Order: sequence, then structure tokens, then C-alpha cells
Amino acid sequence: MVNVKVNLEKRSYNIHIDVSTSNLIGNFMQIMKVNKKILVISDTTVGNLYGIQMVELLIKDGFIAELYCVPPGEHSKNLDVAMELYTKAITLELDRNCAIVALGGGVIGDLSGFVAATYLRGVPFIQIPTSLLAQVDSSVGGKVAVNHPMGKNLIGAFYQPRMVLIDINFLSTLPNRELYTGLAEVIKYGMIADNKFFTYLCDHSRQILDKRPDVLTEIVRRSCEIKAWVVEQDECESSIRAILNFGHTIGHAIEADTNFSVYNHGEAVAIGMYGAALISNHLGMCSKATVDVLKHILLQFNLPVYAPECGIEDLFKLLYRDKKVLDNKITWVLLNDIGEVNLCNQVPENIVKLALAEITQSNTLS
Ligand SMILES: NC(=O)c1ccc[n+]([C@@H]2O[C@H](COP(=O)([O-])OP(=O)(O)OC[C@H]3O[C@@H](n4cnc5c(N)ncnc54)[C@H](O)[C@@H]3O)[C@@H](O)[C@H]2O)c1
Ligand SMILES: [Zn+2]
Repeated sequence: MVNVKVNLEKRSYNIHIDVSTSNLIGNFMQIMKVNKKILVISDTTVGNLYGIQMVELLIKDGFIAELYCVPPGEHSKNLDVAMELYTKAITLELDRNCAIVALGGGVIGDLSGFVAATYLRGVPFIQIPTSLLAQVDSSVGGKVAVNHPMGKNLIGAFYQPRMVLIDINFLSTLPNRELYTGLAEVIKYGMIADNKFFTYLCDHSRQILDKRPDVLTEIVRRSCEIKAWVVEQDECESSIRAILNFGHTIGHAIEADTNFSVYNHGEAVAIGMYGAALISNHLGMCSKATVDVLKHILLQFNLPVYAPECGIEDLFKLLYRDKKVLDNKITWVLLNDIGEVNLCNQVPENIVKLALAEITQSNTLS
């Protein structure tokens, strides 16, 4: 089994990665010395695939485990559903030492983590991420949240899990589009921190798309290592953690402009990364070859680089509505080279609009 440690003093934890790790859930829970009662939260899709089996494994090891499933999708990430989960926890008489387990994608991880952070002012929280995006991104780093009707992730906390258990086998049932979404974040890690890892992705694209377990294990491991390294330096996002937003400034604007209904998160981030690379190139920070290499791998992983449904002016306005904008200044994450980024909050408007014009053209014009 591969282990990645997230070093955050008293809040440190391990990420265990391998095929079939979920079979060991009972052992891991025993080592963590949590109380016998466990609430496993999932969505109905993942719950039907893996939930019953997970609860049975826990019961076999002496735990009193209950599965609670919510409908799949982003619309479950809200305070009403959180309230249902608090009610469930109270009904089960979960105490402060009882664990909440998130079994699912990022929606389940963020929602369950928010409930775990607030129920009884915080109970032990375990992440068992099942989508690639959750395995490489949302389950690590402690950001938990629910959405408000006026914006995504507006109500949340920093609350680190006690453990992240990653079972690569879960990815065998993940729909392809969800795989590609996760790959956008994986490419992001190569771009922001590790040129060699980026080359590994390019060299193993076939095996990745074929879901070869050993290759998936390696890309999840390295992605978690990079995310852990960034979070260790800046847990609450006051400085360097911002580099994880590479591609997200434009990505969030694209998601909002298309009402979260055309592109999923990874697809919007893919277009956003291409846009950020174009800005970097226009500012003379990185070469055209770097932009092209990024574009090539995004297309290879079936990710878009253009958003023809979006308008330049609409996107430009939406850039300033992002919750990460401070004092009306956008902190851009820009590329020097593959594996090396810089933070810049002074990009001229005309350069931003030039990049927006390029990414909003249709594929056929490229
Ligand atoms: N906390 C963070 O740091 C962080 C970072 C990035 C994203 N997020 C959040 O994560 C969410 C997106 O996560 P997501 O992309 O995993 O979405 P998701 O949780 O909606 O999962 C995507 C879909 O895949 C299905 N699924 C998941 N695992 C499966 C499996 N093994 N087999 C079959 N189907 C499976 C789910 O049922 C769902 O329909 C967003 O709400 C986003 O805000 C949080
Ligand atoms: Zn993201």
C-alpha cells in the first residue's frame, strides 16, 4: 500500500492508496480508536455500488454502522440536506467520538465534512473518495462546504479528515466523463509543480484512459503528494495554496456563465488552464510551445479548451465575482514553464480579453 502523509501538526493524517484498500476499513477504524457507532454518508449511485458492502465490513469488525444516502449531484450540497444528516446523527445518538465517513465523490466529501465539522462542534471525519476528482483533490486538504443559492461553497470550514482511504478499484465503475474531470486536476498538478509528472502523464495517456490500476495508483499518489505539500505550507489559503487555483479563475467564470449545466468542473478548469496559459504567453512569461503542450494533453484526455457558448464581456465581469477576488484584484496563477507557476495580480485588461477571445471561439475556427 502507498501512504502519503499530510503533516499538519496535531491535525496530521495519512492518505492510504492502493487497489482494494476499502476491504481494510474495519482495521483502519479500529486503529483510529473511534467509538463503535459510525455514520456512512453516500449518494444513491455510490451507495448502491459500494455502500452496503462497506457497512457490512464495518459490522463484521464489531462496529454499529449505518448507511445514509442522498441523491447524487451538486444539488445535494446544501443546508437542507445537511439538516437531514444532523437529524440522522442525533437519532443514531452519535457522540463526539463517533466517526462520520464520506463514501463518494466531492459532493459527498464536502457535505459530510461540513456536517462532521459542525455536528457537536466536530466529530472524527474519514474520507473514502470514489471519484478521481475526489481522490486527487477534494478529499485532501480539509476544505468542507455546502452551497448557498447565491453561490457555490459559500458556507464552509477548514476541517481536516482523520484519514483518507483511497481504493483505486472504485474507479472501475466511474463514468468516463467523470474520469476526464478528475484528469483535469491531475494535469493541473503537473503544470503547477512537477514537470516530470507532466511528462509521465503524456507518456502514459493510453494506460490512464484504459484505467490501468498501477498507473492510476501512481497518478493519484503523486497528485495527493503535491496537494499535501501545498496544504502543509498554507493550510488556510493565505498564500501559496492559491497556486491550486491554476485554471480556476476563468474556470469558475465559465461554470457560472453556462449555469453549471454545460461543462462540469474539470472541463471548465481545462478551458481555464488553457486561458491562463495564453495570458502567460501574451505576457511573455511562457513560450508558445508550453501552451501547445498543455493544449495537446487536455485534448488527449477528452477535455475541452474552448467555450464557444460564452461571451468575452460576460466572462470578464464574472471573473470579478469570484469569491477569491480581494479588493477588486484577481490573483492570477500564471505559467513560467511546465511545473512552475507565479502569482500575479496585475494583468492588463486587454491581455485578459485577448485570452477570453481565444477561448470563446468555436473549435472549428482554431
Ligand atoms: N473540498 C475541496 O477542496 C474541493 C476541491 C475540488 C472540488 N470540490 C467539490 O467537489 C464536488 C465535485 O466532485 P465530483 O466531481 O467528485 O462530483 P460528485 O460527487 O457529484 O461525483 C460525480 C458523479 O460520479 C458518481 N460517482 C462517484 N464515484 C463513483 C464511482 N466510483 N462509480 C460510479 N459513479 C461514481 C457520483 O454519484 C456522481 O454522480 C464539487 O461540489 C466541488 O465543489 C471540493
Ligand atoms: Zn478544481
